Amino acid sequence: MRLAKRVQQLPPYLFAAISKMIEDKQAQGIDVISLGIGDPDLPTPMHLIARLQEAAEDPVNHRYPESEGLPELRDAIGRWYATRHGVTLDSATEIIALIGSKEGIAHLPLCLIDAGDVSLITDPGYPVYEVATMFAGGHSVKLPLSEENGWLPNFEDVSSDDAEKARILWLNYPNNPTGALASISFFEEAVAWAKKHDVVIAHDLAYADVTYDGYIAPSILEVEGAIDVAIEFNSLSKTFNMTGWRVAMAVGNAEVIDALTRIKTNMDSGLPQAIQQMAITALDDPRDAISSHNVIYQRRRDRAVQVLQELGLRVESPKASLYVWAGLPIGETNSADYAERVVKETGVVLTPGSSYGDAGEGYIRISLTLSDDRLDEALERLSRFARGETVL
Ligand SMILES: Cc1ncc(COP(=O)(O)O)c(C=O)c1O
Repeated sequence: MRLAKRVQQLPPYLFAAISKMIEDKQAQGIDVISLGIGDPDLPTPMHLIARLQEAAEDPVNHRYPESEGLPELRDAIGRWYATRHGVTLDSATEIIALIGSKEGIAHLPLCLIDAGDVSLITDPGYPVYEVATMFAGGHSVKLPLSEENGWLPNFEDVSSDDAEKARILWLNYPNNPTGALASISFFEEAVAWAKKHDVVIAHDLAYADVTYDGYIAPSILEVEGAIDVAIEFNSLSKTFNMTGWRVAMAVGNAEVIDALTRIKTNMDSGLPQAIQQMAITALDDPRDAISSHNVIYQRRRDRAVQVLQELGLRVESPKASLYVWAGLPIGETNSADYAERVVKETGVVLTPGSSYGDAGEGYIRISLTLSDDRLDEALERLSRFARGETVL
């Protein structure tokens, strides 16, 4: 059998080496704790599950949904953007429901990229932007991020040739994996650059509402005129601990939303309606559940930052996202080697920064989505490792 080139070109599984190590450790009977997974351990709020159960019993919700999502859901998304971001959207033309934002991200290049076209992606970054671009026949040009530049791209670094071929500029703030933030003035700069070069901005706002210390993350659509060139992916996954229910949205430029709708109507039949009903309840809720989740993540963040500092890692307390991104201790240069040594000696899995791109080398990422007692156990082991004690 000959598989298509796009499958053959898929990069190897991100954490293949680490997964092998985990398997080996587990085979030796060692209790491995992974700080690699970014999937909330906290359950979906119970009243949302109750709404889902109720909606599942209604036969109206047993039939094919529409790809673009129920008008009631799109209206609820519109209300969310109005109250949360002060952004007014036309729910008929500027909002579409998604089966998780990953689905929309993966389909967007099919709307905008032809063979030879370019996506501009940040390095380090969420891997789906690059793979989805490749599926559409395009290729990605990486904009290297650095600690010195606050993990923001510098548009002056884009060559005029790449700017001419570029069709999509992918941004993601609050950022995975670095936890970096973008200000409105950065978004203004991005919008001005995109307008000048006729490029669509796809802003991934998956971590909009996982924030700490009172920080409020902006939408790129808060920039005047951004809707002329931008769409934004937003998701209920992390905001409401709903990763398993697969519900998200793309909002923004009507022409791009229309193209995405047309692609999707040929690929999927939308989200189960009972889940859409649950999403409407979530979006119209007061923000109590979000705030109480963030208090828990913030407490975990504080403990994690303290222990990472004991390990000699360079770390700033992130104001958003589910991750702590930390520079390797002095004398260490290879993040995969470092993570390998840590897992060997402690059974605790850290993600090497190089898994997110070359510019992530020299850093590791840990996730805060582990129950308090497991996270405590992992941090305790790391602390003992930092003191030079034998852990396993
Ligand atoms: C940066 C980023 N974007 C998008 C997603 C996808 O989220 P979902 O498909 O659950 O909405 C993730 C998931 O981890 C992510 O980290």
